[in-house]
Amino acid sequence: MPFSSILKQAVMVLLLHIFFIFLLCAPATGELTIGDTYSPNEALQWAEAVATRLVSCYYNASSGIWWNELAWQSGNTLESLANFLSIRNSSLKYVFNQTYTKTAWDVGGECFDDYQHWLLGWIQAYSVDPNINYLHRAADIYDIIVTRAWNATKCRGGIDWCPKNSYKNAITNELFLTSSMRLHPYATLLRKPPSYYLDWALKEWHWFEQTTMINNNYLVNDGLNDDTCLNNNQTTWTYNQGVILSGLAMLANATNNATLLTIAQNIADATIQYLTYPPNQQILREPCEPNCDNDQKLFKGIFIRHLSYLLAYVKDPLRAQKYRSFIQQNAISLWTTGRCESDGLFGLVWNATMSATTCDPSRDAATTSAALDLFVAAAGTGNGPARTAKWMLLGMGNCMDGRNESMANIYRSGVSESVCRETSESDVGAVAYDYELKCDGSRFCRIRTLSDRHATPEGWTYEDGNALTVTNTNGMALVNCYLRTD
Ligand SMILES: *[C@@H]1O[C@H](CO)[C@@H](O)[C@H](O)[C@H]1NC(C)=O
Ligand SMILES: *[C@@H]1O[C@H](CO)[C@@H](O)[C@H](O)[C@H]1NC(C)=O
Ligand SMILES: *[C@@H]1O[C@H](CO)[C@@H](O)[C@H](O)[C@H]1NC(C)=O
Ligand SMILES: *[C@@H]1O[C@H](CO)[C@@H](O)[C@H](O)[C@H]1NC(C)=O
Ligand SMILES: *[C@@H]1O[C@H](CO)[C@@H](O)[C@H](O)[C@H]1NC(C)=O
Ligand SMILES: *[C@@H]1O[C@H](CO)[C@@H](O)[C@H](O)[C@H]1NC(C)=O
Ligand SMILES: *[C@@H]1O[C@H](CO)[C@@H](O)[C@H](O)[C@H]1NC(C)=O
Ligand SMILES: *[C@@H]1O[C@H](CO)[C@@H](O)[C@H](O)[C@H]1NC(C)=O
Ligand SMILES: *[C@@H]1O[C@H](CO)[C@@H](O)[C@H](O)[C@H]1NC(C)=O
Repeated sequence: MPFSSILKQAVMVLLLHIFFIFLLCAPATGELTIGDTYSPNEALQWAEAVATRLVSCYYNASSGIWWNELAWQSGNTLESLANFLSIRNSSLKYVFNQTYTKTAWDVGGECFDDYQHWLLGWIQAYSVDPNINYLHRAADIYDIIVTRAWNATKCRGGIDWCPKNSYKNAITNELFLTSSMRLHPYATLLRKPPSYYLDWALKEWHWFEQTTMINNNYLVNDGLNDDTCLNNNQTTWTYNQGVILSGLAMLANATNNATLLTIAQNIADATIQYLTYPPNQQILREPCEPNCDNDQKLFKGIFIRHLSYLLAYVKDPLRAQKYRSFIQQNAISLWTTGRCESDGLFGLVWNATMSATTCDPSRDAATTSAALDLFVAAAGTGNGPARTAKWMLLGMGNCMDGRNESMANIYRSGVSESVCRETSESDVGAVAYDYELKCDGSRFCRIRTLSDRHATPEGWTYEDGNALTVTNTNGMALVNCYLRTD
């Protein structure tokens, strides 16, 4: 066998809905470990596959939110999509305008955390698609939170969870800290005093810090006991360790207070130590796994997203490398063990044992949206996307080989990914394959090959014309061609 099974899974990329091209100049010789095969390019490919599939198959353009997700989660998916667009321009950008037009400020639900997830989504949308309406939507939500949610009557401050439930919990207050810091650079643009948002962030943090919500292990529990206003010792969800990271890092930056960055790093380190699968502690684990409810399905994506925001502020190179490796190991684990081949969705557990026949029954757009966060974060851990020693980007829609010769291609409908991959490998001249899984579940495989057309396997058909003529299939543009150079 020319490829180890790990290499097969990790290097060969399948194509969900749109076409991705990997060019393998020659089969690699010798065994590769998982670490060796990590490539930001590959993470980017997965991010692209997942983002496209989430929009093409699960985005409801009539309502502006994702079906198969809770409404607050769609705000997170909006933010994840914006992060994807920050590393890869794509026609998926239309979603922001569409969602803006179809939704109101309170689409997320009934509570103050729901609205703030959307607030953060709009700020991130604004950063990749600078339509001032998006920033105003975020600022409007913020004004409502400030007016209605800060409640000094109970527990001497902090944001209430809901208009009808004054539970003081971690997530709602972390979101307020981070929302304040995300809006802070726009204070003047939003006609607020320059330190308006910063002052709220400091007020929130000073309150948060004294509540004891951060426990002795440096993990954040769910919230406060109603009577004592002290830590209620309830579950340390991963997203409670996530949202606070970027808020604190930005506050550390704005106030030049390194202690705040240290606290954020301590929380990130504690998460990697305690909220992971033993014995290696490389793979993030939601405390409810494997039986999480619909809300909890997205939490790990939120942690990873904010860990990657934190990375931009980490000054210690060893710690930064630790976080990057953590993100990469999780990404490799998920794309090798957590994908359902029959529908392209990713499951809840990132350390799983899924295969084509054993798909996580709880998988949906929300678990797949968390996968998007992970793959986008992993794609950002290299020296920028599409630039590593091993992988060379040939171009968008360019399926010429290294000598500028167009590649013939053979195709077949109704095949599984494994058959597609095996055919590609058994043809010594095959240099690439793309696998398309449509929303309705039908499959299509195309293999680019340098071999003689007489080598076409039984059941496969030659397609006339060179690869450049097939860059648009089903209206979706072909994305990228990569050449493996080692
Ligand atoms: C999409 O949104 C529209 C408008 O809200 C709604 O009528 C329809 O049922 C939604 N479709 C799905 C599949 O959720
Ligand atoms: C981004 O992609 C869109 C649609 O694919 C295209 O129209 C636009 O020109 C691209 N922008 C840049 C800067 O490449
Ligand atoms: C959205 O796009 C439409 C045209 O398709 C345009 O008229 C409208 O102004 C856009 N809305 C926003 C918020 O950009
Ligand atoms: C603040 O919390 C108290 C105690 O739970 C509650 O009675 C009151 O309605 C809250 N105030 C606001 C403005 O929500
Ligand atoms: C939470 O745990 C701490 C330390 O074990 C304990 O002192 C405290 O009483 C507990 N609080 C609640 C509300 O159970
Ligand atoms: C804050 O961020 C700016 C821009 O990223 C950077 O130049 C500066 O060094 C940072 N300051 C601190 C204290 O981290
Ligand atoms: C920096 O932040 C820490 C943690 O909140 C705080 O105890 C300390 O007083 C702050 N330092 C300054 C100079 O504000
Ligand atoms: C995945 O979880 C299992 C236990 O469920 C454990 O044995 C294994 O080491 C974990 N893998 C990693 C990479 O943490
Ligand atoms: C291949 O063709 C492109 C476009 O015509 C050209 O820019 C490039 O230099 C060519 N590469 C080689 C290796 O000939």
